[in-house]
Amino acid sequence: DKGTYPYYMLKEIDEQPNVMRKLSAKYLDQVGQPVITPALVEKLRDSDRIYIVGAGTSYHAGLVGKAQLEKLTGIPTEVHVASEFAYETPLLSEKPFFIFLSQSGETADSRQVLVNVNQKHLPSLTITNVANSTLSRESDFTLLLEAGPEISVASTKAYTAQIALEAILAKAVGEAKGVAAAQTFDLKGQLAVVAQGMQSIVDEKNEIDQIAQDYFVQANQAFYIGRGIDYTVSLEAALKLKEISYVHAEGFASGELKHGTIALIEPGTPVIGIITQAGTAGLTRSNLEETAARGAQTLSIVRQGLARPDDTFVIPDVDELLTPLLSVIPAQLLAYYTSLNKGLNVDLPRNLAKSVTVE
Ligand code: F6R
Repeated sequence: DKGTYPYYMLKEIDEQPNVMRKLSAKYLDQVGQPVITPALVEKLRDSDRIYIVGAGTSYHAGLVGKAQLEKLTGIPTEVHVASEFAYETPLLSEKPFFIFLSQSGETADSRQVLVNVNQKHLPSLTITNVANSTLSRESDFTLLLEAGPEISVASTKAYTAQIALEAILAKAVGEAKGVAAAQTFDLKGQLAVVAQGMQSIVDEKNEIDQIAQDYFVQANQAFYIGRGIDYTVSLEAALKLKEISYVHAEGFASGELKHGTIALIEPGTPVIGIITQAGTAGLTRSNLEETAARGAQTLSIVRQGLARPDDTFVIPDVDELLTPLLSVIPAQLLAYYTSLNKGLNVDLPRNLAKSVTVE
């Protein structure tokens, strides 16, 4: 039931602070220690390479998971688009461990990979929102997202729930391996900051609605740019805009623009820089300025500690491994309000289904 909300998507965006609190309460104990089945932690600890498999938004959540897992566990991690992996399987390491990310747990592309993995008797975990879903039943371990039903076709709360749960898993495995970065990571404290930060962003809905009206409703193309983890969020941000507002949008590694894509910038083209990582903030800012010099309408989503007075959206400071949990929220809302102001059916975009059960 969407209650007083016009669309499920807005309700699901608003639920995200609460999903963070639920995940923290379920998977981290009073003193912040991960509560994850020991057998799962051991299997991951003993693996020499992690393979994350997903489609669409879940693939994008996997890209963030790679950064978290490598930093907190030291285990090399690859992320793969399910439909590609199924038929072009890369060379596998000696002791691979597979993580399937799927909100629905029913995505045929991901399931095909799992069928292959099971034929090879390799260990796997499914992170899903749906208990007893196909992927959950067919993999060795399951972790539930506890996000509540996601009805809107555009995935929002499942993305942030997947990222939070990947961080918890990474901390658990990193601690088991004795990695200092995992031991000192106050994830419980940080997730509380994230929940509050999400709330402060969703409380600024009206401003985001206005920006959608001013710059996106008339646009026929838009670009999100960033580096590292911010690049991965730019992919997700662009997907949201495409699928529900039908604005052609792309996410780019900001350093790549000058190698071709910058030719597409026209006067007024919205370009949004995502800037949350201290090490690359200056570079992404320069790349954003290069697009402004070609007439782009530039906007920015910037972490507080890196913010300047003219930034568009300033998100609260959190650990750099968790910034996607906050930087994606203005992008979700921007897609929502662009779609709404164009008079589209936000929850049921054309040509799309909530769960894709064909390859
Ligand atoms: C985008 C979206 C899709 C799904 C994809 C995978 O908003 O919803 O890209 O993320 O179809 O679905 P799951 O996570 O159910 O495997």
